[in-house]
Amino acid sequence: MEKKNIDWENLGFAYLQTEKRYVSNFKDGKWDDGCLTEDANIVMNECAGVLQYAQTVFEGMKAYTTEDGHIVVFRPNLNAERMTDSAKRLEMPPFPAERFLDAVEQVVKANAAYVPPFGSGATLYIRPYMFGINPVIGVKPADEYQFRIFTTPVGPYFKGGVKPLTICVSDFDRAAPRGTGHIKAGLNYAMSLHAIVTAHANGFDENMYLDSATRTKVEETGGANFLFVTKDNKVVTPHSSTILPSVTRRSLMYVAEHYLGLEVEERDVYFDEVKDFAECGLCGTAAVISPVGKVVDHGREICFPSGMEKMGPITQKLYDTLTGIQMGHIEAPEGWIKVIE
Ligand code: PLP
Ligand code: COI
Repeated sequence: MEKKNIDWENLGFAYLQTEKRYVSNFKDGKWDDGCLTEDANIVMNECAGVLQYAQTVFEGMKAYTTEDGHIVVFRPNLNAERMTDSAKRLEMPPFPAERFLDAVEQVVKANAAYVPPFGSGATLYIRPYMFGINPVIGVKPADEYQFRIFTTPVGPYFKGGVKPLTICVSDFDRAAPRGTGHIKAGLNYAMSLHAIVTAHANGFDENMYLDSATRTKVEETGGANFLFVTKDNKVVTPHSSTILPSVTRRSLMYVAEHYLGLEVEERDVYFDEVKDFAECGLCGTAAVISPVGKVVDHGREICFPSGMEKMGPITQKLYDTLTGIQMGHIEAPEGWIKVIE
């Protein structure tokens, strides 16, 4: 299979239309057989549930080319599980997990020419999503849904690749206690747009959201979880029922403990202790691990000892080990890698 003629090394995190996408429709209480299509457009009624009341959830994962030329996907079963949780929270019929995995395989195979080559620094981003499609005017769940998966080749999420980021403590809240912060629903991102535009306008790369009940604890950013490293090399991540359970973060905590022999802690992280950490990183499918050099809280700067030039040493080890597992040159734990072809 011949790869597309794309400048892989210089891709950013942007949508580039690929050839095939997967579509399945839910009607009369059941999902149809689903198929691949070349049509990237969706036609729906003006009163569709997704357009009126934002009934939509999504996922994000990546396909990688390994050193020996296979195409693999990282832990898609966890994305299938999380999408089921997201769908249930928004009263949508979950797309069955085994069909989700089969659809991922079909769509990646069909777009194999767009999976960036090994060593290019780029990957194929996979975006499953579903939404209410029939007309809904009273506030209630839709009766009909569409599930789709498209793919797009991407480079680094943050401009500048792995240069440490400067983030600010947001005055806005991301997720309410007992709300929807733990699921991957479009509504969580719609309400974060003003906060991210404001952060960018003020010269910051991202927002650090605090817990909205007490505003004393670190939660996450708009699109990634936090990892911190203590001065004695413990890896710490916030525990909270209002953050998204990141597949990358869960994998990194395992890597820290079982591959690097580090102590790990998932616990409340108070903003007051951030100044005492040695390293900080943002982790997610899109972000991978993006190092944070500085956190700014209303003019007060917290500068991590790892500095603004490169990743801290533990963050670097975590990054190298995780990407080594994803790219196939470090042996993966059982079940982490799904070989597509
Ligand atoms: N937190 C938020 C709000 C996200 O949007 C994402 C991205 O998916 C993450 C965390 C990271 O999750 P994952 O590692 O599963 O991609
Ligand atoms: C991902 O990492 O897959 C996400 O969905 C985050 C988003 C901000 C691009």
